[in-house]
Formats: sequence, C-alpha cells, structure tokens
Amino acid sequence: MNRRQLVLGAGGLLSSLYFSGKALSASEQVVKLFASESKVDLVRLGTPTNLWAFNNAVPGPEIRVRRGDQLRVRVKNELREETTVHWHGIRLPNGMDGVPYLTQQPIKSGEEFEYSFVCPDAGTYWYHPHQRSFEQVGRGLYGPLIVEDKEPLAVDREITWVLGDWRLQSDASISNDFGHLHDITHAGRIGNTVTVNGHVVENVAVEAGERIRLRMINAATARIFGLDFENHSPLIIAYDGHSVEPHSPENKLVVLAPGTRIDVLLDFNGEADGKYRVVDRYYRGRDYRLLNFAYGTKRSEKARSGSPQLSPNQLPEPDIASAVRHEIVLDGGMMSGMQSAIVDDEELDLRALIRKRLFWAINGVAATSHVHKPMATLKLGQSCVLKVVNRSGWPHPMHLHGHAFRLLSRNGQPAKYREWLDTVLITAREEVEIAFVADNPGDWMFHCHILEHDVGGMKGVIRVA
Ligand code: C2O
Ligand code: CU
Repeated sequence: MNRRQLVLGAGGLLSSLYFSGKALSASEQVVKLFASESKVDLVRLGTPTNLWAFNNAVPGPEIRVRRGDQLRVRVKNELREETTVHWHGIRLPNGMDGVPYLTQQPIKSGEEFEYSFVCPDAGTYWYHPHQRSFEQVGRGLYGPLIVEDKEPLAVDREITWVLGDWRLQSDASISNDFGHLHDITHAGRIGNTVTVNGHVVENVAVEAGERIRLRMINAATARIFGLDFENHSPLIIAYDGHSVEPHSPENKLVVLAPGTRIDVLLDFNGEADGKYRVVDRYYRGRDYRLLNFAYGTKRSEKARSGSPQLSPNQLPEPDIASAVRHEIVLDGGMMSGMQSAIVDDEELDLRALIRKRLFWAINGVAATSHVHKPMATLKLGQSCVLKVVNRSGWPHPMHLHGHAFRLLSRNGQPAKYREWLDTVLITAREEVEIAFVADNPGDWMFHCHILEHDVGGMKGVIRVA
C-alpha cells in the first residue's frame, strides 16, 4: 500500500515538526514499518554509514497519535535475522510488548507482525527491537513515538531530539565489535560520535524570544548524557512521558540515561545573531559539544499565557502503607565482588560465567534469555515497592515494562518530585525505592537499558497475575 511518509494530523502540530524528518500520524491508518539494512549519512561528509534502520531512516519515522488512540503498526522484517518491536514506556497489553519468546514469537526474516494497542498516556515514547537489542538498536533500529495531549502546551514550536551514539571508524563505517567483552564488563558500548536525529549537527536555528518544547529521547545503547544548555535555562516538564512539577535540573545538567526521555521548555532569551552551545558533560573530563543554538536576526515578541505544567496522565497511585516490598540487588561487572551466579538453575563460578559472556546478575541470577522464573510475582492490583540496590561500581538505568512507577527515594532520601518513570538511573552503589500498582497482567521485563549489560545477564521478569 502507500508508504506516504508525511501525513498531516488534525491539530496542525506537525507544522512544528522541525528537524525530525518524517512523521507518520497514526490515528486513521495502519503505520508501516520495515526493518532493513540501510545507508545513512550520519556525519554529513558524503560518506554514508551502513546501518540497520526502520524505513531507511535513523531514527525511524516519528509516529504521532492522540492520547487514547488505537495505534496499529505493521512491521515487516527485511533483516537477515529475527526481530521484534518494543514500544518503550507504553502501558499496553502484554502480548503487544514485543519481547521475543516472552510475549511473542520473534518476527522471522521476511515475515510481518501487526502490533495494535491503545496509547493511554500522553508523552514522549519510543520504539526499538527487543531481539539482540545491543546490536539491533546499536546499528540504528529505533524511532520516536509521540502521544499528543488533548490540549497541547502553548509553545511556539515543538522539537524532538533522538540522541544516538556511534562507534565509527575514520571512513565513517560502523565498528563491528558489537558485544565486545570490554563493553559488556564496563560502561557499555560508548561511541565516539553523537547524532541528533541521525546526523552530526552543527547548528540548530532558533529565534530570539521564542519558547520551544524540546522532547529528548536517549536511544544510545550505553552513553548517558548530561546536557548543559549553558546560557539557557531548561525547565523540565516531563520525565519518561509523564508530567512533573516544572523545575530546573539539578547542577544545571539534564541527565538522560539510555531509554530515558525528558521534555523541557526552553525560552530563547539570547542575543539575535548569537551562538550558544549545548555540551554533554556527563563523563568527567570528556565534554562533548553536541551542537549550537544559532539565533537568527529577528526577535519575536510572543505573549505567554498559561502554566508550563502538563496535565497529568491517569496513573494508578500506589498505596505505600499496604504495598508489598521486594528487594532487588544488582551486581557484577568489572571490579565487583561477584564470585558466582545462577545460570539456568545452576550455580556457575566467575570463570564459567566469563566463558558464557555473563557478567551481571539480578538477585544472583544471570539471565541468558528473556524467559525464566520471575524475580517477583505480584498480585494483580497490588501496590508494590521495589528497593533496588546497586552493589556494582557502574551506573544502571533500570527499565520496567508495562507500568510506570513513582520514584520514592535515593539512598534513603525522599525524592523531591516523586516523578513517574519507566527507567530509573541507579548510580554506582546507590539504592532507590520505586512504587507502582501492578495493574497490568503478564510477565514484564525489568532490565538494564545499557544494552551490553542486558545481554551480559542483567535482566529479569516481574510477573503480575
Ligand atoms: Cu527500551 Cu526492554 O526496553
Ligand atoms: Cu547496567
């Protein structure tokens, strides 16, 4: 059928879709995605990089729906291996969650699968394969999924930034060392080239006086971003899609771990003709200039009205007093004290683990696949508090499928905003408490979104029944 790349939605929101390529509005039709090998000019030097991509683009097309809409997506697998698509952050029925062997059979090479589900929450989401994701995502298979609110926030423009990170060689080809042992045992595959919406970006044109809603998605397999907007003051309005009390980021850095989305409001109060940097400062001593905001000569005087606070999604509020509690311990990686782990019901020592390329464990279990005994079983409708203890010397962005959870505390200190998340960054030796209502039946992944840690054993299942 038609592979129309741009379909205008009703609200005219797409006119604001500056900078993020193609959009597919999904309210009236079946969105078509095909995964295939492709070439994309990431570095804009005229030498395209061989990648894997949805619809020949990195990121794949921006899918936009309205809150409460049914989304139907037909996925064709034109890769030479199996795949699936996971709709990261969407609270959907288990059978649509895209986890191979756990929630569906993988889509074989040459075959198709139709996903169909309601998007109950407004916000910024994304999609990516869950099959060998360290390589499939790492080679470029991902795209943004935006669920529009009924009442859009009053801004002049809305921009989506999908952040990517690549390990490129000098001829712009991708380094093929996916699943490298050093990456698995350390911080994951951190690359040398950061892209915004699939390109190395020099300047983003802005106008003095305008207010922009910037939706950021970290699609990198391992790189954590700590974005410093230098002369600008981003106001965080949403985490992982969900409204939060508008606030400035701590230490001025907007921190996005893999899997995380953050929406900010930016008021462009700089000088006409000015240039202002955005710099990633997460890794000490390794600052990386992402891009510049380049002001035009005009100044727009736009009246502001209304609060910058987004309307909340209808999420079930956990009852902390009656909640069941589970403790989840993360361990492994370089320089940890982990001596052994259970693999397929058998205790293996470090040497045997290394032979199997497993270095990470949750509650002492190193997972080899998506299917195994649940680390916790929750009664449907039950409130639950998870205390997640990171015993390792590495940060882990832990992602729960099928639910959003509230962040209650970090190292025993109550969280200031009690934000709703689906991915929580737990730094080295840190412990966090999160809470949610187990209201979505099924087996749900709980895993590290540093995808080299995920393949190295750091994943498990939480059962809601
Ligand atoms: Cu974004 Cu389990 O994945
Ligand atoms: Cu991890």
